[in-house]
Amino acid sequence: MKSSTCIIGIIGMFSFLLCFSACQSQEEILREQYVVEGMGQYERHCENCHQKDGSGLKDLYPPLAKTDVWKRLSAYQLTCIIKYGQKDTIVVNQKVYQNYMPGNTKLEALDIAELITYMREKWGDDKRIFPLDSARLALKNCH
Ligand code: HEC
Repeated sequence: MKSSTCIIGIIGMFSFLLCFSACQSQEEILREQYVVEGMGQYERHCENCHQKDGSGLKDLYPPLAKTDVWKRLSAYQLTCIIKYGQKDTIVVNQKVYQNYMPGNTKLEALDIAELITYMREKWGDDKRIFPLDSARLALKNCH
């Protein structure tokens, strides 16, 4: 009696652990999908100006790598800049940029969620997924 209870207990614990790690890795798989898709989006829509390595270009395009932008702007603000562009005067790494970034009005919430997840991991030292729901919410509140 005692030993069978023990065995059932062990099996129960084992399946709990198995499920726990499987569920965790499903979330991780989704995040990795976002990163891969986001890299493609970046190549298609951003790297012409900001460059593949995110270093920017002269006085024209601000860098996205090695800047404080990932702390200065929230993912919500980034979502709106990506979707609607920006025409402002900004200072990045002590350099003034006074230029125009066109919007990407064709990008959907999912595209932007993927983009931000990719860039945050690559340049923001931030491995959190930027969830689709949050990107949707951000887009609703842009203007
Ligand atoms: C045609 C060139 C161009 C393209 C394409 C472009 N950008 Fe920009 N981006 C700019 C310029 C110019 C600025 C600065 C705008 C200003 O002075 O207000 C900027 C600013 C930004 C900023 C704010 C930087 C800061 O430090 O505040 C972010 C973030 C950004 N871009 C991300 C992106 C992403 C992501 C994409 C692709 C979806 C993209 N950009 C595509 C030219 C571009």
